[in-house]
Amino acid sequence: MSLDALIDRPLALRARQLLTMIPRGDAPRTRPDPANLDALRQRDADVVGLIEDGLVLVKEGLITYAGPWAGRPTLDADAEVIEVACITPGWIDCHTHAVFAGSRHEEFTLRNLGARYLDILNAGGGIHASVESVRRASRASLTDQLIHRCFDFTRQGVTTVEVKSGYGLSTDEELKQLRAIEDARGEVLVDLQATFLGAHVVPKKYRDRRADYVDLLCAEMIPRVAERRLARFCDVFCDQGAFDAAEAERILRAGLDHGLIPRIHADELSEAGGAEVALAVGAASADHLEFVSEAAIGAMAAAGVVAVLLPAVNLFLQVDRHAPARALLEAGVDVALSTDFNPGTAMTQDIGLILTLACTGYGMTPGEALLGITRAAARALRLEDRGTLAAGLRADLTILGVEDYWQIPYFPGRRPIDGVVKAGELVYWQSATEVD
Ligand code: NIG
Ligand code: FE
Repeated sequence: MSLDALIDRPLALRARQLLTMIPRGDAPRTRPDPANLDALRQRDADVVGLIEDGLVLVKEGLITYAGPWAGRPTLDADAEVIEVACITPGWIDCHTHAVFAGSRHEEFTLRNLGARYLDILNAGGGIHASVESVRRASRASLTDQLIHRCFDFTRQGVTTVEVKSGYGLSTDEELKQLRAIEDARGEVLVDLQATFLGAHVVPKKYRDRRADYVDLLCAEMIPRVAERRLARFCDVFCDQGAFDAAEAERILRAGLDHGLIPRIHADELSEAGGAEVALAVGAASADHLEFVSEAAIGAMAAAGVVAVLLPAVNLFLQVDRHAPARALLEAGVDVALSTDFNPGTAMTQDIGLILTLACTGYGMTPGEALLGITRAAARALRLEDRGTLAAGLRADLTILGVEDYWQIPYFPGRRPIDGVVKAGELVYWQSATEVD
């Protein structure tokens, strides 16, 4: 069926597999056992709230029914039922640095040959190189580049993308990045959520007076961002080479005072106490967590701080140390997954690859990984209207051409995306899959 034939109708989508992402019981907390495939399949079906032969009905942007075909309400007379293979909630990339200019391919090769990320940064490259590129770029050019990247996100099945500033590092340049996000909003098919990350690193100009930069962040940049409503979140890179825990806490509290929800790049390169700061300020999420402390894991579960894990960084920086995904899940922490799309440590928009890396590197099941880019990612962004499939929620859907959702992480690069529904509208359709 062509896209033209499908637009402007109330949607009725019948799926062989409907993943509601409403877990049954305590499924994600229990340890998966590879010795018993049947029990593992059942456990994973409970993780994703699997309905075999399901139906999603959509009207005026909202889901009106998501449940078994057999229990469907009476369909509208003009409803044409489209049969598809698999439906999940629209995928959410909850941690990206997608508004950038320039390329750092030389640094990529240097690192592959042994150069260290922090040494490159301290020598004035890395994030500083992207800052120079962004400062040279106009707001219109940043917007344009972001728009193109957003179309690629749509083709990958993504319906919501969080985007951080952080390559401006002065009041005007940070505002320029955030305005580019604002300008792109009306032009793209994904919902953009903006985060202020002026505290990415200390800019070169402030190298010998870092306290002055923290003052500038708290007294000028945060108030300006908040007053112009350019971001919902405030983030800090709390690590070696960036900001320490005390600085991070001060910056995030200043954000809170201005209504910005805290999130934090925590314990990526070292045990920097980032997760503890997340707990102290009540952050929505603590992201990275390769070096998170055991004590923090239990406390995160109790406090409802979402762990956002970013496995592409392991690939790009060739770090063997993985974030303790299983310990986080078993403690009851919501584990979200994201690309961390940025020109340095994760030059990829391929969220399907992230699912694969989470399964192979963290020992997550396909269901747990998919939960990470739907329900848990919505929680990381404090968005209550999406991430699961239930009546009354926003109709963001990803339609997949797979016989079995376990095939999604199994074949990275294949892009099994047959369609994308964004706020009730079919915005992408490639009817590749025959459903019989
Ligand atoms: O999430 N860790 C800090 N920020 C990014 C890297 C940004 C860059 O290298 O440009 C990250 O990994
Ligand atoms: Fe990041």
